[in-house]
Amino acid sequence: MIAHLFNAPLGKGEAAVGVGTVGSSEAIMLAGLAFKRKWQNKMKQLGKPYDKPNIVTGANVQVCWEKFARYFEVELKEVKLSDGYYVMDPDKAVEMVDENTICVAAILGSTLNGEFEDVKRLNDLLVEKNKQTGWDTPIHVDAASGGFIAPFLYPELEWDFRLPLVKSINVSGHKYGLVYAGIGWAIWRNKEDLPDELIFHINYLGADQPTFTLNFSKGSNQVIAQYYQLIRLGHEGYTNIMENCQENAMVLKEGLELTGRFNIVSKDNGVPLVAFSLKDNSRHNEFEVSDMLRRFGWIVPAYTMPPDAQHVTVLRVVIREDFSRTLAERLVADIQKVLHELDSMPSRVTEKLAMNVVEHHPTVVKKTAIDVQREITTAWRKMVADKKKTNGVC
Ligand SMILES: Cc1ncc(COP(=O)(O)O)c(C=O)c1O
Repeated sequence: MIAHLFNAPLGKGEAAVGVGTVGSSEAIMLAGLAFKRKWQNKMKQLGKPYDKPNIVTGANVQVCWEKFARYFEVELKEVKLSDGYYVMDPDKAVEMVDENTICVAAILGSTLNGEFEDVKRLNDLLVEKNKQTGWDTPIHVDAASGGFIAPFLYPELEWDFRLPLVKSINVSGHKYGLVYAGIGWAIWRNKEDLPDELIFHINYLGADQPTFTLNFSKGSNQVIAQYYQLIRLGHEGYTNIMENCQENAMVLKEGLELTGRFNIVSKDNGVPLVAFSLKDNSRHNEFEVSDMLRRFGWIVPAYTMPPDAQHVTVLRVVIREDFSRTLAERLVADIQKVLHELDSMPSRVTEKLAMNVVEHHPTVVKKTAIDVQREITTAWRKMVADKKKTNGVC
């Protein structure tokens, strides 16, 4: 059912294969292993060295890709991010591909801002490069979240097995698959994309049981729950739920924009989430907003972006099925209260600076930390008023 959802080809001699996993991390380890083994087999056949495999991803990948690279000894070549562009640039990714690249991994729904990477452009560029070089570098799509969003909200978007170089896809059932935690899926376009030698056959359970997972025993409850959700909700049910999530994300996004205090870092066409940063002229930072929101019962994480966008800090709210419009409106109201409260408080950044000045120059500065802080705040405001660029450091 999931292979069908991802448009796996059903021609003569074509049959997708797949496996249920604990989540996308395990699915990615297995898919990565399959690429590594296929590449090694090919290099052996060509009589070429096969000890330095690499994988190309964006710097925005989830930690499971770093785990895969380290655990399975594959060099991770990351395309750096840049200001205002927080996903893998397909042009730069293809430039980084060489003969030892086992695959390029694209993300459908970046963990950090929900944005879909341009898998179609990646595929087209890679088809061209493969033609020129004679290599056959494939693509894996990490659709941990987007795999259960794109088919329902953006059915025309080509990101899946419709693209010839996409050989495998992972998705988490416990994200937008609407199942409780502990289920993910890895799907291969064709049996040939999963080397036979990775599949073990055991017979001690009464019949031939092929197995390709990291763990052997596992509860079947999540598999049944996923099956139940798919047949109970159907295509129409999933579409309604995803549309509802998207609408609630828009309510939150518009509410945040109306405060005039935030830049929105997420895109409208992606995972239903809102990632946002305080505007440059703010005296406070995103970590303070996150801390204060806890008092209202909200856990909204604040984090810095990966290289080369580390200077950007964002807050992120993921909208799931149970995050209603009323909750979205309440969150906006609570954020407004937090901003109001923060405005009446000295900034922690200036407070820290002031404490530093007082601590390290006690004889020079015969003032209290509060006095120094006031001066820093006044200077800061003047600087902002003068529209001087501060590179995020006040
Ligand atoms: C893009 C992406 N890939 C992989 C993962 C790992 O998924 P799981 O938690 O199902 O192992 C996540 C989880 O946040 C993710 O966002």
